[in-house]
This record gives sequence, structure tokens and C-alpha cells, in this order.
Amino acid sequence: MDIRPIGVFDSGLGGLTAVRVLRRILPEENLVYFGDTARVPYGGRSRETLLKYARQDLRFLRSLDLKAILIACGTVSTTSLDALQAENDLPIVGVVEPTCRRALLVTQKKRVGLIATLASVRSGAYESMLRKLDSSMEVFCQPCPLFVPLVENGRFRRGDVVIETIAREYLEPLLAQEIDTLILGCTHYPLLEEVISDVCGPGVALVSAGEESAFELKRLLTAQNLRGPSDRQGEANFFVSDQAEDFQRIASVFLQEDLQHVAGRVDIEQF
Ligand code: DGL
Repeated sequence: MDIRPIGVFDSGLGGLTAVRVLRRILPEENLVYFGDTARVPYGGRSRETLLKYARQDLRFLRSLDLKAILIACGTVSTTSLDALQAENDLPIVGVVEPTCRRALLVTQKKRVGLIATLASVRSGAYESMLRKLDSSMEVFCQPCPLFVPLVENGRFRRGDVVIETIAREYLEPLLAQEIDTLILGCTHYPLLEEVISDVCGPGVALVSAGEESAFELKRLLTAQNLRGPSDRQGEANFFVSDQAEDFQRIASVFLQEDLQHVAGRVDIEQF
């Protein structure tokens, strides 16, 4: 039994897709979320910058007493997971492996599309994991650099002509490859789930990075005897590196719960 909180981080709103699942499958756990809203988007940055940012995000979270970390960011997971795991003595879960395992279970034609940030696609991490799990897998990748800025600006709803036009442009080349499964390799993209599934249609199953990693974290906590007491309701606390108001508003809509505390502001450059 371990009552310490779980830390979750992302460049901004995207990691909330993992928080939403964690709140459902581990309701007794306390969560601390950090969104690096001052420096979002991460997706077009170099490996060196991403590692620097990720180390700072982790140092902030580790200034609190945590039992495990979920990197609810595809971009950090694809570029910095090994370094972060080697440098830290607590369990750290990234999104790539659990997501690929899920995609493997879902695909029937073994033709899988991946949408992710530029840095994630360039890293080749999802592709190599999919091929490691099944060498006959065909993988088709599409970076979607405009998705994260639009989501962060609240442009993610069905009927928004801007996001719908861009989604069609990004997804049509993948659909032409006759994929039957699409990995949403960036944790912001599940906020676009309705828009994406409208374009893809019912023949393409969507696999979301944030959700799968939340299930992986639950398995790991159970295996390592790190679960909290089951007879209580856990709290979620939120921190951001820029003004909190917009984050707070979208977060409570998305999580479908009122945030118990005002999101705190962190000067991330101090870490
Ligand atoms: N949610 C992050 C990811 O999963 C977004 C990266 C970004 O800020 O561009 O990759």
C-alpha cells in the first residue's frame, strides 16, 4: 500500500487524456499533473531541447514525493524515455510500447497508420516498436504539426471547419493505404477523436496513446505493490508553467469534473 501520488506530465492539455482514464481506472489514487503550457508545442523541437525540457518537468514533479511517473506525452516518450528511466530511481511509464501492443491486438490487416508530432515521427520509435512486436506489420506515418496548436486554442470540436479541413488533409494519404487501425501517437489527438473518426469512418479503429499507457501504469503499480488504499477517493492537482485560467477551463470540461484546486503556476526554468 502506497499513498504517495502519481505524477503525470505533458507539454499542455494532451496528457489530460491519460488523466481522464486514470481517474476512471484508479479512482483511489492521488494525481499530480504538470502541463508545460509556457513551452507548448514540443513537437517541432530538437531531441536536445526535448530532453532538457523533459528533465526540468521531471525535476519539478520529483520535488513532490511521488511513487511513479506517467509520461503522457508522445513526443517525450519517443525521444527521451530511455534517458529519463536511466536517470531516475522510480517507475516511469511512456506511451510507445503499450500503444503498439494494443494496435497489434486490434489490427486484422496488419496495416497500421500512425499520426504524431514531427519529433515523434522522426524518431521512428513507434515504427520500430511495431515491427519489433511483429515484423510483418506495415506502418504508414503522418506528422500532424498543426493539430497541437489548434487543440491548445480550443479548436477541436466537430463542425469546426478549420480543424476538419486539416484533418482530412493529414488523414487522406493514410486512408489511401487502406489501414484498418490508426494510432493517435500524440496525447493531444484524442481531443480530436470525433473529427478524426468522422474522416476515417467505421472501418478504421483508433488506438489512443494516453489511454493505453494509463492501463500499463495500473498493471505496473499492481505488480510492484504500489497501489493506494481502495476505500477512498483520490484527488487530482494541476500545475502549469504559464497562466492557469484557459488550462483550467478546458481541463474541467474535458475531465468532466470541477478541479478541486486552482491550477498552480510553476516557474519551470527554476528546475
Ligand atoms: N501531447 C504531446 C505529444 O503527445 C504534444 C506534443 C507537442 O506539444 O507538440 O506528443
